[in-house]
Amino acid sequence: MKIGIIGLGHLGRSLLQGLLCSGIAPDEITAYNRTASVCDAVCEKFGIDATGDPGYVAETSDVIFFVTKGAALEELSESIPSKAYAGKTVVSFMAGVRPEKLESACPGAEIVVAMPTVSIADCTGIIAHTKAPENVSQLFKRLGYSFETTYDGAVRSAAYAASGLGFAAYLLSAYMKAGRDLGFREDECAKITDILFTTALRRGDFDTIVAEVATKGGATERGVMRMDNVGVPGAVSDAVRLAYEKMA
Ligand SMILES: NC(=O)c1ccc[n+]([C@@H]2O[C@H](COP(=O)([O-])OP(=O)(O)OC[C@H]3O[C@@H](n4cnc5c(N)ncnc54)[C@H](OP(=O)(O)O)[C@@H]3O)[C@@H](O)[C@H]2O)c1
Repeated sequence: MKIGIIGLGHLGRSLLQGLLCSGIAPDEITAYNRTASVCDAVCEKFGIDATGDPGYVAETSDVIFFVTKGAALEELSESIPSKAYAGKTVVSFMAGVRPEKLESACPGAEIVVAMPTVSIADCTGIIAHTKAPENVSQLFKRLGYSFETTYDGAVRSAAYAASGLGFAAYLLSAYMKAGRDLGFREDECAKITDILFTTALRRGDFDTIVAEVATKGGATERGVMRMDNVGVPGAVSDAVRLAYEKMA
């Protein structure tokens, strides 16, 4: 199966790394990026075929990944002959681009909308996708945890999982800062934050852990009440909802 990647920004490069890391051979992949110097550098580094023509990617690939800004679709369509799409599968990673728009930009192609996390780079991604042919579903499985959903489900996953990776990192970074503020060294903060969050995740029943640690009238309860009073749970929920509304 020949795989084409159009767009080698953060997510396009993650896709390329993930495909290679999952065992896809470099000679099965061709990539295009608008800025040719980026394309050449990335393709040389990973030993894959680079092109300055997005039409060539579409013509020579069975599965074509669009990983550019959504606004680029119109401009790209002008450089790709309509006949290049016949019998191909187009996978769009572009947040905010609806399937109807893709169907008219890529006539004759089977359209799949998928929303991945950048952690597909090391095959630990989360990928929500619309109905996909078997060969494409198998590709997603190689890149991490994948599941089929509706277009709206994919957008919700883009907010909760794809943006969520950034939100999770933000919260960890805030906890690291709390440690530094108390006088811990960077390496100590990193070790403690790692153990705390990993342990809470492994134990799983988060409300029970809070109840066990935050005994009535104690120090933890004081901290939890502070987080409740400043609205931490609401702020987290708002962050996810705002990301969803921007992409819906
Ligand atoms: N990052 C994520 O976690 C994530 C998750 C899910 C979905 N997405 C979606 O993935 C897409 C790429 O995101 P990213 O994080 O990789 O962004 P990025 O690092 O900013 O890369 C943007 C890419 O789009 C290309 N591009 C922009 N305008 C273009 C145009 N007019 N014509 C052709 N190419 C154009 C850029 O090419 P140049 O190098 O020439 O500028 C670059 O390859 C977006 O649609 C985003 O919504 C991202």
